[in-house]
Amino acid sequence: MAYNLLKGKRGIISGALDANSIAWKVAEKAHEEGASFVLTNAPIAMRMGAINNLAEATGSKIIPADATNVEELEKLFSESQEVLGGKIDFVLHSIGMSVNIRKKIPYTELNYDYFMKGIDVSAMSLHKMLAVAKKLDAINEWGSVVALTYMAAQRTYPFYTDMADIKAMLESIARSFGYHYGVEKKVRINTVSQSPTKTTAGTGIKGFGDFFDYAEAIAPLGNASAEDCANYCITLFSDLTRMVTMQNLFHDGGYSSTGVSNEIMQKMGVEE
Ligand SMILES: NC(=O)c1ccc[n+]([C@@H]2O[C@H](COP(=O)([O-])OP(=O)(O)OC[C@H]3O[C@@H](n4cnc5c(N)ncnc54)[C@H](O)[C@@H]3O)[C@@H](O)[C@H]2O)c1
Repeated sequence: MAYNLLKGKRGIISGALDANSIAWKVAEKAHEEGASFVLTNAPIAMRMGAINNLAEATGSKIIPADATNVEELEKLFSESQEVLGGKIDFVLHSIGMSVNIRKKIPYTELNYDYFMKGIDVSAMSLHKMLAVAKKLDAINEWGSVVALTYMAAQRTYPFYTDMADIKAMLESIARSFGYHYGVEKKVRINTVSQSPTKTTAGTGIKGFGDFFDYAEAIAPLGNASAEDCANYCITLFSDLTRMVTMQNLFHDGGYSSTGVSNEIMQKMGVEE
C-alpha cells in the first residue's frame, strides 16, 4: 500500500546491482511513493545490465558514477538536477565492498592496499558525495541522506574483518557531516543499521548463511528483509522524520537489544 510519502520529491539512489540489492527495493518503494529519481552505480556494475530493468520499471534515468571519483560525483549531482528539474530531496548511499573479505583474508593479516580501497569505496565515498552535494548546493533544505551500515561497527563480528572498521567510519562521517550540513542547510544525515540480508555483498561474507540463521533466532521479530529496510528508508526520506539527523538507527527486528533468546538456548540443549 502506498501513502504518497515522497510525492514531488527528487532523489538519487546508488547501489542497485540486482533485484536482491537493498537499493533496488528502495527504488521500487520510492517509485510507489511518488518520487522521481536517478539511479547510479559504478560503471563496472552496469555491465550486468540488470539496472536497466529497474530504470524502465521506475521511469528513471541511470547516471553511472564511481563513488570514489569526485569528478564523476560532480557530474552525477549536476546532471541529476537537470534530469529531475530541480534540487535533490533525498540520497541513498548503498555502497559496500571489501577486497579483504572477497579474498577471505583474516582480520589480523589484512592487506592494507585492499583496506584503503575498502575505506574509499564504502566510507569515504559518503563524505565525497556529501561534499560534492554541499559545494554544488544540490540538496534542498530538509533534504535527507541515508547510508546503510552494519552493527559490526559497535560489536565485534570476526568474519566482518575490515568492514567493521569501515562501517564505524561511515557512521562517524554521517554524524560529523550531519552537524555541518544541518547547521548550514538543514540537510539531515542518518545511517540505517540493517539485519543480515541475502544480497551479493551480504552473501560474499564467510559463513553468512549460518550467521543469517543465528541472527534470525536471536531477533524477537526475526531478521528484517531488504523490503522492510526499504520501507524504513522511505520514512527517513519523508517529511514525517524531519527532526531526525546524525543517528545510527538499528533496523534489525530487535537483534541489537537482545542478549540471548530462548530459541538459541534450546538449540544449545539448555532446558527452559
Ligand atoms: N546485505 C547485508 O547483509 C547488509 C547488512 C547491513 C548493511 N548492508 C549494507 O547495505 C549496502 C548495500 O549492500 P547490499 O547488501 O544491497 O549489496 P549489493 O551488492 O547489492 O550492493 C552493493 C553495491 O555497491 C556498489 N558499489 C561497489 N563499489 C562501488 C563504487 N566504487 N561506486 C559506486 N558503487 C559501488 C555495487 O555495484 C553494488 O550495487 C552496503 O553498504 C552494505 O554494506 C548490507
